[in-house]
Amino acid sequence: MKNYLSINDLGNLQEAVKEALDLKRHPYHFKTLGNQKTICLLFFNNSLRTRLSTQKAAMNLGMDVMVMNFGSEGWQLEFEDGTIMDQGKSEHIKEAAQVVSQFCDIVAIRAFASLIDKERDEAEVVLNGFVKYANIPIVNMESSVAHPLQALADAITLEENSVNDNPKVVLSWAPHPKALPHAVANSFVEMMKLQDVEFVITHPKGYDLDPEITKGCKIVHNQEMALENANFVYVKNWSSYVDYGNVSTQGTNWMMTKEKLGDAKFMHCLPVRRNVVVEDAVLDGKQSLVIEQANNRIFAAQLVLKRILEHL
Ligand code: CP
Repeated sequence: MKNYLSINDLGNLQEAVKEALDLKRHPYHFKTLGNQKTICLLFFNNSLRTRLSTQKAAMNLGMDVMVMNFGSEGWQLEFEDGTIMDQGKSEHIKEAAQVVSQFCDIVAIRAFASLIDKERDEAEVVLNGFVKYANIPIVNMESSVAHPLQALADAITLEENSVNDNPKVVLSWAPHPKALPHAVANSFVEMMKLQDVEFVITHPKGYDLDPEITKGCKIVHNQEMALENANFVYVKNWSSYVDYGNVSTQGTNWMMTKEKLGDAKFMHCLPVRRNVVVEDAVLDGKQSLVIEQANNRIFAAQLVLKRILEHL
């Protein structure tokens, strides 16, 4: 694998999940694969899980790791070609990406959506800037429109917790006080399309995701109906896609409760706002898989880094 930008870069998802589960059983089996190789993790936005799990995954493979909070510590980057750089931007992506390539063998990038300019967000200006100008492999640690490391961790978690064939999985929108990006939901939908599951998306009217991504998916606006007989309920907030980045309704009655969850397993990528997105009783109960999901972030990242290292 050259780059990991989307869940589709994995090829066969089921084989990838199996390989990740082998790594989970034997995390140090490839501990010399990354010897004398360095990964640079560049964060334009905050993180807990992605930062630590990717670092741990790289360490399990014997890699050296450099981490930089680019958003707060780096020079402000210019991404446009031909700009007269006489304003606030100090460095062009052309130099920045090539310079980073001198210091490491793989670069991983986190750069969220602005939620202001849909066209710019969908162009993945930061991630694709590195893809264009760096000459080393790129890993997406959550970009404007995708979070494929999270989706792979979720696929691993689903595999470990599925007790029947063709389980019913519901992606349920949740309320949130802030406007959030679509990346986690997008990659979860893309991952679901690669799985042998009954998949339903439920959200209030006006919160449709990108129709290109949800094409072919069942969408139900009645949450109660959508949740009927669910085996897994994946809860996530996202802001409006059509009325880009806006929060048209608070939808507080969409919060996930123990009663609504029924016998289903609860999933969320974290971080999560308690008693806004989901009530305490769910997160503190036995049906919650959120800590398992976080743990599986290590093996998702380790699988991705292993495959890249094998082709360096
Ligand atoms: N789920 C996830 O990506 O968590 P962080 O934002 O803390 O990395």
